[in-house]
Parts: sequence; C-alpha cells; structure tokens
Amino acid sequence: MASPMDVDEPGPSGPSQRDKGKGKVGGPSWQEKGKGVVREGARGDGVWVEKYRPKALSDVAAHRDIIDTISRLTKENRLPHLLLYGPPGTGKTSTILAVARQLYGAKDYQNMTLELNASDDRGIDVVRQQIQDFASTRNMFGSGFKLVILDEADAMTKDAQFSLRRVIEKYTRNTRFCLICNYVSKIIPALQSRCTRFRFAPLHAEHVTERLQHIVNEERLDVSENGLPAVVRLANGDMRKALNILQSTHMSSPVIDEKAVYLCTGNPLPSDIEKIAHWLLNEPFTVAHDRIAEMKTLKGLALVDIVRELQPWIFRISMPASTRIMVVDALSNIEYRLAFGTSEKLQLGALVGAFTKARVQLIAAAE
Ligand SMILES: Nc1ncnc2c1ncn2[C@@H]1O[C@H](COP(=O)(O)OP(=O)(O)OP(=O)(O)O)[C@@H](O)[C@H]1O
Ligand SMILES: [Mg+2]
Repeated sequence: MASPMDVDEPGPSGPSQRDKGKGKVGGPSWQEKGKGVVREGARGDGVWVEKYRPKALSDVAAHRDIIDTISRLTKENRLPHLLLYGPPGTGKTSTILAVARQLYGAKDYQNMTLELNASDDRGIDVVRQQIQDFASTRNMFGSGFKLVILDEADAMTKDAQFSLRRVIEKYTRNTRFCLICNYVSKIIPALQSRCTRFRFAPLHAEHVTERLQHIVNEERLDVSENGLPAVVRLANGDMRKALNILQSTHMSSPVIDEKAVYLCTGNPLPSDIEKIAHWLLNEPFTVAHDRIAEMKTLKGLALVDIVRELQPWIFRISMPASTRIMVVDALSNIEYRLAFGTSEKLQLGALVGAFTKARVQLIAAAE
C-alpha cells in the first residue's frame, strides 16, 4: 500500500493549470451527474481519454497495491470511506468508477452512486442537501451501501468539510463516501481520519508506455520507434496528458514520431535544445542571444519551455558543483519571473547572462 502518504503540494504550475477535460458544465450548483455517475458514452467516445477509460479495476494501469486492496475490500463488501489523492491524470476517478461498476453492475450503479464535483459550488448547503437527500433515502435497488463520490474535494470550503464530518458519521450505516482530490493538505484532518487514504503517484514510464501500446494496437496507429518514448517523456506521469498528446499528434500527422509529437505540443525538440545549449556555452553573449532569439521566432518556441528543457541538460554535462548550482538557480529564477508574465526579451538576456557567468567559472576552474 502507498504507506508514506506524502502530501502533494501545488506544483509550480499551480492548480489553475489542471487541464482536466472533465467535461465540466457550467452552472451554479454542484454538478450532479445525472443522479449517478457519468453515463456510458455520454462523454463522447471520439476522445481517447474517455474511450479508453478503464472499465474494470483490472484495466487500471499501475498502482497495483492500491487496486488489489480496494478490489479485495470491494469483493468482501468491506469498503471503508476512501480518500484518493494525487496529481492529475493518474486514475483516481477511473478507479472509483470501476469500483462502482464492480459493486453494483453496469446497470444499477447509476442509481446507487452520487457523483458530485466540488469545483462549481463549494458551499455548505450542498453538503447538507444533496448528500443528505441521497444518503438518507433508503436503498430500493438492492442490498448493501450506496456510494457518494466527492470529486475535487480539495475545492470544498472548510465549512462544507466540517459539516461533511457529521454527515459521514450519520450515514455510515448505508453509505460510503469517496473523497478525491489533488492536494490532500487541503482536506481537514478530521475528514482525513474518517477515510482510508490512498496516494496515486505519477505513473511510471513503463506503465504509461504499456497502456499507450495497447491503444496504438487498438487504433492501428503508425508509430515510429522514438514516438512513444517522446509522448511518455512529455506526459510526465500523467496518463490523461499522454492520451491527449497521442491523439492530437495522430490527428496532425500520419506517422507518430518524436518530431511530430514535439511539434504538435509546441515543445522544443531535443536537437534544438542541444543547439541552444551549445550556443550558450560556446558563443559570445550577443551571438548566442541573437541565435536563440532567431530560433524562437522561427519555430515559435516559448522561453519557458526552453528553460524547462535546459534544466535536465545541465545535469548531464560535467561542471563544478558551484557552477551547476548557480545555473540552476538562475534558471529557476527566470522560470519564476516568466510565470508572472515578464518580458521574454529581458529574460532571454538573463538566461544568456547566466551561462556567460558559468563559462567564466568553467574557464577559471580549468586553469
Ligand atoms: N492508472 C490508469 N490506468 C489507465 N488509464 C488511466 C489511468 N490513469 C488515468 N488514465 C486515463 O486518463 C484519463 C483520466 O483519468 P482519471 O479521470 O481517472 O484521472 P484523475 O486521477 O481522476 O485525475 P484528476 O485529478 O485530474 O481528476 C482516464 O480516462 C484514462 O483514460
Ligand atoms: Mg478525477
């Protein structure tokens, strides 16, 4: 089991970048998805993220320990209240939907499950009314408990969370709650202690590759040898992102190779980064600056992407620790400033400047 349940703090991109594609519909109140969980096919099978959403627990890639535990508890009808947390696109929602299907069967699960999305209205009355209405009605469709899924629970107000404490206790006899969130630190301790927590870590490259390979076979895609590794690298452990990149590359290019993947996502190609790094380390300030500026314009690259891709590169070349620290610190400051919308031109100057300083240090160290 994922024992050291570490806390996922918001990353540098922040919660605003949670590109979820959850099909959120506007509206003032919590989205009650058709008195039950997402209807089959309702989200459009054309989108691979939905088409290949795991139907059963056994389809969920990675997280074997978690899935085995949840599967056993489900089979034995001993499911506790759950708290699933972790970064986007790692299978939290898919897992609980598969549990619901396993518990109630494909037909009944819509009646037995209430799925609420906390993003739209995080108010206290929602907890009081919708959940209480659902949880307090007696179960007419079969024995066992009902399931309330609170997706994006980290967006709930503290008041709503406090009132949920009481609701959970009151209806424990015939209802199980599953809270899902990205940042577990935003869930009050009292709620955490009522749930069994499972952390969905970013997926390992081999698990993402395996799943993508399955889709490549199903869709009969033309993928070159370096195509999938490129998708996996850019997805960074987020399966939803991997599927979206795969599908958009497929739509924009007949063959899925590294170049197509990088071009489609607007990321600088590894060969471009290599060129940039070469200029930064070997050319005088103005030459390096002008060449990078020219490449940026020609290829439509964003400086923030270049900075991000340069970072792993810095660790691959040999240099004294103090120089490496100086460069990485400079890169992180530039990234930080770019996130606040500062001028790319000035920040490019800062980037070239950092490497010019590093070069001076490298030459001094060599002498
Ligand atoms: N472990 C996984 N195994 C197989 N497919 C997955 C897995 N994780 C994610 N996916 C794919 O990504 C899509 C999104 O996954 P899901 O909705 O479960 O993510 P999530 O963890 O709930 O993310 P978020 O925190 O953004 O809500 C799914 O439809 C599925 O296609
Ligand atoms: Mg989700």
